[in-house]
Amino acid sequence: MTVHFIGAGPGAPDLITLRGRDLIAACPVCLYAGSLVPDALLSHCPEGAHIVNTARLSLDEIMAEIAQAHAKGQDVARLHSGDLSVWSAMGEQLRRLREMEIPYDVTPGVPSFAAAAATLAAELTLPGVAQSVVLTRTSGRATAMPEGETLSNFARTGATLAIHLSIHILDQVIADLTPHYGPDCPVAVVWRASWPDERVVKATLSTLQTAIGAEMERTALILVGHAIGAEDFGESRLYAGDYDRRFRPVGTEPRFPEET
Ligand SMILES: C[S@@+](CC[C@H](N)C(=O)[O-])C[C@H]1O[C@@H](n2cnc3c(N)ncnc32)[C@H](O)[C@@H]1O
Repeated sequence: MTVHFIGAGPGAPDLITLRGRDLIAACPVCLYAGSLVPDALLSHCPEGAHIVNTARLSLDEIMAEIAQAHAKGQDVARLHSGDLSVWSAMGEQLRRLREMEIPYDVTPGVPSFAAAAATLAAELTLPGVAQSVVLTRTSGRATAMPEGETLSNFARTGATLAIHLSIHILDQVIADLTPHYGPDCPVAVVWRASWPDERVVKATLSTLQTAIGAEMERTALILVGHAIGAEDFGESRLYAGDYDRRFRPVGTEPRFPEET
């Protein structure tokens, strides 16, 4: 018996890996985080599967469901939105599973920041503009930010920021970022990336609040940085015609001569 943690992707039911889909189809038990996992993914469950929306359960209750499946020798598909490496609450479940000596594995998913970037058709790391992406959030009711992980500190680097779980305090986000990026810095907000009701607003830090209006939907990603929508950036050296590299030796004395 194994608990398969599966990244369910950002919302569109076809943005799950083939491995994730096949695991759902093979498991007689499916526990899913109902708030952001699309119902359509549950159609992959085998007939008669025990399907539980864990949005209303405590950690103890979730672990009790898993213990019950373990006692019956039934594999579990455990679905969380996006990818499991960020804000999935997987860590605490895995720790309990290790204590209970229940085997598990993890299948990655498409994270929401990648889905939002795809919606914008944006490369977040443009040569000479930004070469880092910071996946971050602000303090919430349930989770405080560790000291030092402030928006101002990240903004000081000039990296592209993908700010999660923060649209409800947009005014504070704008106030923290503007001194570092400047009021004309491009920003894009993508609500429910890849869902049928996806919405996008592109603006600058100074115009964003007005551009958004009274939108209340909270499932949103704020992408900020000079790489968003930039046209003035260099081309990657990797593909330059005169760039000598292992897979494309150039010139009479290539640095990595082709093996004969
Ligand atoms: C609990 S976190 C889950 C993150 C998820 N594990 C991931 O890989 O993206 C939920 C937050 O992620 C962002 N998010 C998740 N799905 C999204 C989507 N489809 N579009 C925009 N933002 C999304 C929002 O900021 C939301 O408040």
